[in-house]
Amino acid sequence: MNAVLSPPPEASPDAPPRLRAMRVGDVSAVLAVEVRAYSYPWSRGNFIDSLAAGYLADVLVDEEGAVLGYFLALPGAGELHLLNVTVAPEHQCCGLGRRLMQALHGHGQRLGLHTVFLEVRASNLRARALYARLGYAEVGLRRAYYPATPRREDAIIMRRCPPLADADRLDMDRPEVNRPDVD
Ligand SMILES: CC(C)(COP(=O)(O)OP(=O)(O)OC[C@H]1O[C@@H](n2cnc3c(N)ncnc32)[C@H](O)[C@@H]1OP(=O)(O)O)[C@@H](O)C(=O)NCCC(=O)NCCS
Repeated sequence: MNAVLSPPPEASPDAPPRLRAMRVGDVSAVLAVEVRAYSYPWSRGNFIDSLAAGYLADVLVDEEGAVLGYFLALPGAGELHLLNVTVAPEHQCCGLGRRLMQALHGHGQRLGLHTVFLEVRASNLRARALYARLGYAEVGLRRAYYPATPRREDAIIMRRCPPLADADRLDMDRPEVNRPDVD
C-alpha cells in the first residue's frame, strides 16, 4: 500500500503542557503532586510563604489545567537559588523536568540573574544527571542536610554559571568541542 503520510504539525510553543506563574489557588493541586513526589514534602505553608515573598514560581499545566510540575526559586543578589523543582511521578522521564529548568533559566536571563544554585540529595541520581546535562557543576557538599532514615542525607551543591562569551565563540568555531547541553 502506498499511503502518503503528511508531516506531523509543528509543535507550538503555547501547546500544552504550558507554563504559567503559580498562584495561591494552585497550592492544593501543587501540594497533591508534592506529597506523591517526596518522602519529605514541603508543607502548604512553605508554598504559601514562598508565593507571599514573591519568589519565582511557575506551574506546568495540561490542557485541562491539571498541574504536571512546578518550580520555585529565590532571586538573590545576582543569582537564583532553586528551592523546588518537581514533576508529577506519572509524568517523569518525559522531558518535563528539563522544560521546567529551561523556563527557570529563561527567567534568570530576563532578570539578569545568570548564576543558579541548588541543593540536591546525594542519592537523587536522576536529578543530578539532569542538572549536569544542563550545565550545572557540583561545587560543594552540605553534610546531613536532608532528613532521611536511618540518618540524615548529604546535599550536593550545584551551580550553573553564565556562559563565557569567549568560550561560546570557541565552541562555535570548534564544533567537536564537547559542550554541556545547555539552553
Ligand atoms: C528530578 C525531576 C524534576 C526530573 O524531571 P523529569 O521530567 O523526570 O526529567 P526529564 O524527563 O526532563 O529527564 C531528565 C534527564 O535525566 C535522565 N534520566 C532519567 N532517569 C534517569 C535516571 N534514573 N538516572 C540518570 N538519568 C536519568 C533523562 O534521560 C533526561 O536526560 P536527557 O534530557 O539528556 O534525555 C523529576 O524526576 C522529579 O520531580 N523527581 C522527584 C522530585 C525531585 O527529586 N526533584 C528534584 C529535587 S533536587
